[in-house]
Amino acid sequence: MTQDELKQSVARAACEYVAAHLPRSAILGVGTGSTANFFIDAVAQIKQRIGGAVASSEATRARLEAHGIPVLDLNAVIDEGREMPIYVDGADEIDANLAMIKGGGAALTREKIVAAVAGKFICVCDESKLVTRLGKFPLPVEVIPMARAQVARALVALGGEPRLRAGVITDNGNIILDVHDLAIRDAILLEARINQITGVVTNGLFAARGADVLLLATPNGVKTLKAAS
Ligand code: 5RP
Repeated sequence: MTQDELKQSVARAACEYVAAHLPRSAILGVGTGSTANFFIDAVAQIKQRIGGAVASSEATRARLEAHGIPVLDLNAVIDEGREMPIYVDGADEIDANLAMIKGGGAALTREKIVAAVAGKFICVCDESKLVTRLGKFPLPVEVIPMARAQVARALVALGGEPRLRAGVITDNGNIILDVHDLAIRDAILLEARINQITGVVTNGLFAARGADVLLLATPNGVKTLKAAS
């Protein structure tokens, strides 16, 4: 199977998960990236049972709307006291604790916000994303543009090698530093430490709030892994 076929198979499995677990007319959180795009295309087939979606990026908003799926404002959802039981998104790396590196598509901040509101985070990946230790994939960090040099210096002090992602401005008007060669021994601690650097908007470690369920595409079918509770 090609990687795209694996992504399509896990997208279909996520759609089945939503059909089975999302209460009728409830709100669905939707991630960003190529796997999330396959998921959006699959979920369009059951759009009548969804009360609307919250998008984690402008690209995801456009794809949802192209399928006729209403996209809701997250603040309005919360102000109206509505629930978002499920968030579905991909990852760049995920470990056995279901901690992740995300942000390959530069949408990490909105992804983290939507995930923080959701009841359950369902991660959809092909098996190439499952790693024994996070960190081979360079860690994306969203940074306020005027803080680039000072944040880079702080990331070097943490042992990483930050590189500016050329030509990329996030949906929030910021830049991305991709941090190579970081030794991620304690992902929860490192996530908090990087977020404390002045000028950092957020970083792509999703460890304090990891996934609850991993749907993992393999050539032998989609496996389900659950976070230890
Ligand atoms: C975007 C993300 C994506 O979930 C991540 O990059 C995986 O993308 P893909 O499904 O295309 O491999 O975090 O910011």
